Amino acid sequence: MLNEVLFRLEKGITVRIDIAMLGYGKVGRALARLLLRKVDVLRDQYDLTFRVTGIATRSRGCAINPAGLDLDATLAAVEAGDPLDGLHQGDPLDDTIAFIKTCPADLIMEATWLNPRTGQPATDYARAALGAGRHFVTANKGPVAFAYRELSALARQNGVGFFFESTVMDGAPVLGIGREALLATTVRRIRGVLNSTTNYVLTRLEEGASFDEAVAGAREIGVVEADPSTDLEGWDAAVKIVVLANVIMGADLRPGDVDRTGITGITSAEARAVLQAGERIKLVCEAVCTEGAVRASVRPVRLPLSDPLSQVSQTSSAVTFETDTLHHLTMIEGNTDPTTTAYGMLVDMINIARGRYT
Ligand SMILES: NC(=O)c1ccc[n+]([C@@H]2O[C@H](COP(=O)([O-])OP(=O)(O)OC[C@H]3O[C@@H](n4cnc5c(N)ncnc54)[C@H](OP(=O)(O)O)[C@@H]3O)[C@@H](O)[C@H]2O)c1
Repeated sequence: MLNEVLFRLEKGITVRIDIAMLGYGKVGRALARLLLRKVDVLRDQYDLTFRVTGIATRSRGCAINPAGLDLDATLAAVEAGDPLDGLHQGDPLDDTIAFIKTCPADLIMEATWLNPRTGQPATDYARAALGAGRHFVTANKGPVAFAYRELSALARQNGVGFFFESTVMDGAPVLGIGREALLATTVRRIRGVLNSTTNYVLTRLEEGASFDEAVAGAREIGVVEADPSTDLEGWDAAVKIVVLANVIMGADLRPGDVDRTGITGITSAEARAVLQAGERIKLVCEAVCTEGAVRASVRPVRLPLSDPLSQVSQTSSAVTFETDTLHHLTMIEGNTDPTTTAYGMLVDMINIARGRYT
């Protein structure tokens, strides 16, 4: 397909990409809306059109239409609490793997649930899609944290793309910078504040809220994972630093390899005392390369206010790369929401449509 895509791009011929979506929750629906909002930009600036030929969910059924689903109708159905089955053409499907194999699509865009301790079921979805010669874009950290090397090799073997920009810091181009801009560079250390829930809780503790009040506040604004311990005990942060270490530093870590301490037990009095002393407590994710081996950790750290990572509050996140060429490079992302995550997936889709598969 790569040669065909390059040929079409050179000739200015519009490329049409058929998309199957796995998951139609906050991110999946934000992606659908973003695709609708960017139809003209995709066509005019990238010679790219698309059809969404299928959508799969866990409890709302699935719909496949080889001629393309009406996205407004799918959004209206799900938001009214109706199943998608009414829009389905063809035989009923048993499960999501059957959907991946059946739905006529060039690209699978995946935003389902993650078990951070196993990376499943999304890792199996990635295997099924890439093995069947479909490009795979995911917002889900699981496949990358647990099977990055295997899935990248599978994508190469099958001549398809495997991209996952939204897995760390939503749509901020953290992985894209590693891939496109940090060329001929050794990344020696990555440090980040990468989990929104814990950063929000720590900010609220500094403001005087109790731990339970701060967690309740995070739940109210919708940033907490279904199981709050995933965030509070540092699992989500561990999965993210593994993604960065494996993709940008060439490590081969799994989340269980991360030396991990969460924020449970930190009190408002402690957070306020640290602030009065001119520092802030942050849940810092770190990957360091020493003597050829990469080690990763997640732990609460007292940071001086001069450290850019200390400056991110609420649900913002930040990452600092230390390299042999650029000494310190920090990226900060604020005001995240499902659309910022969907944006990273859109960028991945455009890159694939442009024939960039790695
Ligand atoms: N929310 C964010 O801003 C954000 C940011 C970065 C990354 N992510 C990642 O993006 C993914 C989706 O997040 P979200 O906030 O959109 O979650 P969500 O609102 O809970 O939506 C998850 C969707 O996946 C579906 N689903 C779950 N298991 C499935 C299965 N086995 N097969 C098919 N569909 C399945 C659910 O179906 P039902 O509708 O039937 O429940 C739902 O439609 C997660 O991996 C998350 O970690 C999210």
